[in-house]
Amino acid sequence: MWKPIIKFISWWDEAKNNSKLKHPSAVCVSTIDEHGFPSGRFVDLKSVDESGFIFCTSLDSQKGRDIQRNPKVALTFWWETIGYQVRVNGLASQISSSLAEKYWKTRSRDAQITTLSCKQSQYFFSEQDLYKQFEEVKKNIEEKQIPKPENWGGFVVKPITIEFLTFKESRLHIREQYTINGDEWQKRLLQP
Ligand SMILES: Cc1cc2nc3c(=O)[nH]c(=O)nc-3n(C[C@H](O)[C@H](O)[C@H](O)COP(=O)(O)O)c2cc1C
Repeated sequence: MWKPIIKFISWWDEAKNNSKLKHPSAVCVSTIDEHGFPSGRFVDLKSVDESGFIFCTSLDSQKGRDIQRNPKVALTFWWETIGYQVRVNGLASQISSSLAEKYWKTRSRDAQITTLSCKQSQYFFSEQDLYKQFEEVKKNIEEKQIPKPENWGGFVVKPITIEFLTFKESRLHIREQYTINGDEWQKRLLQP
């Protein structure tokens, strides 16, 4: 496997296993909106390998629409307890429906009902409505296994650059940047 992906997996494992982070898979995904502004928000990283970094979401959400218009995205990780930051730039594309199905099945029933009861990123009037919608869907749903809605899926971000930063109190952070060139990754150091 590619060296920077191996390194990422080892840092992510450390964040998951040897640190007290409650959400070690949280990653800020930045997209470009229709006015050309960057827009960042956290999502859960589902997996990573040579094909890229996978997260799931509503395809009709703002980020979903942004990516369908402009696939250039950035991912930013910060694992406070171990002092690592990782930045990824790359191109996002939709994962297959069957792969999205696999991730859908790993979600809790409540999370699935939330997805069914909401139109992610749309305006609405009151917090009360949110609970009412949720309870209504919950009451009416009979299926044991809730099927994945059409508009819920995932994206895989194929990396172009990956930067690893080891935080130092002195601010002499160590920054290693990997850039893909054909099928080869070039490693360079950046001043902190
Ligand atoms: C720790 C954390 C994890 C989150 N994970 C996801 C996720 O995996 N998928 C998702 O759609 N939203 C997730 N959210 C909610 C998003 O941050 C965001 O509010 C939502 O996706 C709507 O974003 P958008 O309107 O920019 O598309 C998460 C939020 C936090 C704080």
